[in-house]
Amino acid sequence: MTDFLTLAEDIAREAGDMLLAKRPTMSAEIETKSSPTDVVTALDTASELLIRERIEAARPGDRILGEEGGEAPGESDVRWIVDPIDGTVNFLYGLPDWAVSIAVEVGGRVVAGVVNVPTRGEVFTAALGEGAWLGGARLRCNTGVPLPQALVATGFGYSQAGRAVQGEVVAEVLPRVRDIRRGGSCAIDLCSVATGRVDAYYERGINPWDYGAAGLVATESGARLGGLNGRPVSPDFAICAAPGLFEELHDLLAPLDPERGA
Ligand code: IPD
Repeated sequence: MTDFLTLAEDIAREAGDMLLAKRPTMSAEIETKSSPTDVVTALDTASELLIRERIEAARPGDRILGEEGGEAPGESDVRWIVDPIDGTVNFLYGLPDWAVSIAVEVGGRVVAGVVNVPTRGEVFTAALGEGAWLGGARLRCNTGVPLPQALVATGFGYSQAGRAVQGEVVAEVLPRVRDIRRGGSCAIDLCSVATGRVDAYYERGINPWDYGAAGLVATESGARLGGLNGRPVSPDFAICAAPGLFEELHDLLAPLDPERGA
């Protein structure tokens, strides 16, 4: 596990350094993906290429799932889950909250995760059963926070229909919590739960590359991560908070049917 984590961290740091160096000149080269608001910059592609090359050199035969390149078929039990830039819109606009996210899954279970936020000089790491860390500090999520006092992060997907539902849901949540934050990176939101910078997070429509590494950071900090009605976290829905607050937020969200109209 340590070897996986060390390799993932080395690669995430190298990709982050490359992105910081090249962002000033290259971030405006964009194409769109699932909708006109869903962009991919030339540096998303370059970052994923670099990460894939490094993994393939060190671990030939492992499978790799990347946001931009998808997944090539393979037999290995080990799968790397890569988001070359989570928070691409922030990256495009020069906002600081974007991250390189790399998770290592063995037998379908994430065992190591790294989220590098280069603009902040912060690298979050976690290993299954061994805790979550920011630099030398062990992370613990906030506990004992009741829903009305909770600072809740969320995000919005790229489809118009999905956003309309997300708007209705957040309108019901906002009057019942301390406040809402929309940071623009799912990976950073989950790491923020782990550090206690927010109390909870929920979102519909995030993908394994968004929550793979940061999900482990959050759960290793003591948070619960799951979907609606006892289902595991998936692109359908994600809720993350300390036990207690998780259930309160779940019970507010579930009757709103936030997965509708997918
Ligand atoms: C997006 C971010 C954002 C979330 C979206 C994601 P991307 O990932 O994580 O915070 O609200 O659902 O798609 O496109 O920047 O990699």
